[in-house]
Amino acid sequence: MPATTASPRSETPDTRSPATAPASGAGPGETVEDRARAAREAGTRPAGSPDFAALLRQDPEIAGILLGESARQSDGLQLIAAENFTSPAVLAALGSPLGNKYAEGYPGARHHGGCEIVDLAERIAVERAKALFGAEHANVQAHSGSSAVLAAYAALLRPGDTVLAMSLPHGGHLTHGSPANFSGRWFDFAGYGVDEETGLLDYDAIRELARARRPKAIVCGSISYPRHLDYAAFRDIADETGAYLIADVAHPLGLIAGGAAPSPVPYADVVCGTTHKVLRGPRGGLILCGTKLAERIDRAVFPFTQGGAQMNAVAAKAVAFAEAATPAFGAYAHQVTANARALAEALSGHGLTITTGGTDTHLITADTAPLGLDARAARGRLAAAGIVLDTCALPCAESPDVLANRRTGIRLGTAAVTTQGMGEAEMKAVAELIVAALEEDGAVRSRTVALVHGFPPYPDSG
Ligand SMILES: Cc1ncc(COP(=O)(O)O)c(C=O)c1O
Repeated sequence: MPATTASPRSETPDTRSPATAPASGAGPGETVEDRARAAREAGTRPAGSPDFAALLRQDPEIAGILLGESARQSDGLQLIAAENFTSPAVLAALGSPLGNKYAEGYPGARHHGGCEIVDLAERIAVERAKALFGAEHANVQAHSGSSAVLAAYAALLRPGDTVLAMSLPHGGHLTHGSPANFSGRWFDFAGYGVDEETGLLDYDAIRELARARRPKAIVCGSISYPRHLDYAAFRDIADETGAYLIADVAHPLGLIAGGAAPSPVPYADVVCGTTHKVLRGPRGGLILCGTKLAERIDRAVFPFTQGGAQMNAVAAKAVAFAEAATPAFGAYAHQVTANARALAEALSGHGLTITTGGTDTHLITADTAPLGLDARAARGRLAAAGIVLDTCALPCAESPDVLANRRTGIRLGTAAVTTQGMGEAEMKAVAELIVAALEEDGAVRSRTVALVHGFPPYPDSG
């Protein structure tokens, strides 16, 4: 019978260093490191590790889908700003037997037995996240970015509270007050926006709005704002108006880890993020906060908004945090922003209007209207050429004509192509391909394939 939150807790406090704790079923004194060393020498894998041949035999339909998606990812230009190619090591942790384990609760205080090994994974993930971001507390269980934001609201707010966040047409996420989302249904959101001329956040206007609305929390973060945020300014506004500050850095979390974007950790009460974008980890969420809010955040994740943690994803997050702490990842993060700047410049040179005139991050938003194309048509032409990206709302002047308020552009990101090894020279080629595709040049599909085949996302796999 599955354990529930009402079942007795298995109190297994473990204050030992995670790396030196003994492995379950191990001989006397044998640690998880001993086990890893022995496996390396003998070439063994955990029983039940992914076996594609087994899938192919048993379920060719789904195996074919895996092959098709793998080919789609390798044969096109992946410019979706929220995507990346996670490492084989992260994928190995994701596809591991840890996915079989139920683990409600937190390390040392689980509602299920047999958690002594997965507890090690979560302790390591938490310690690595804290060290990587310089945070006092980390919760690594949030299943997604949206779950992380939901938990932050659950920890700090009551239904009906007023919250300030970037308005959706200016780049806010669904969890920032969309009426289609729990956030817009349960809280009273007031949206701030960007200056319509410059596309930049107007901090004076945000302060005025906060003074007028006296929110319980202010959310900073966006799905499409290409510039660094001024977290100190947001902190100042929150302090003046008595609000909590929640930084939703789902997009730039990896840039922050790699030192290519400023960190909100010293300023925000709670920082929410996703581990699968620039950070290049598994699909999932992360929450950082100070010691004072730690217990509230943990209880807001489990048991308030989630059940059992996905321990395979938690282990995969630990792998990604270790990768992100390396100098190589710092170089990657800086290359991501250099590539985005080069791509923005090249696209601008080809006549597209780049919001805010450029980018500080991995993200570019552009208006295709100067080329006589609306964004949806542009995305379709690009898709036909194997260039995959999103459309997004573009900030525009409020108009009594509702349709005129819905200006859209294209949103691109350089996280995935940088993982593939592309640099500024390739960004110029990418801009040329984009423009050729928008002009429906028939040869562009094969040129796209030729470019991406020079940069396979998984060069070492057969
Ligand atoms: C700012 C922001 N918050 C939250 C999310 C939600 O993340 P998820 O799709 O993992 O729920 C996203 C996703 O793109 C985002 O950009």
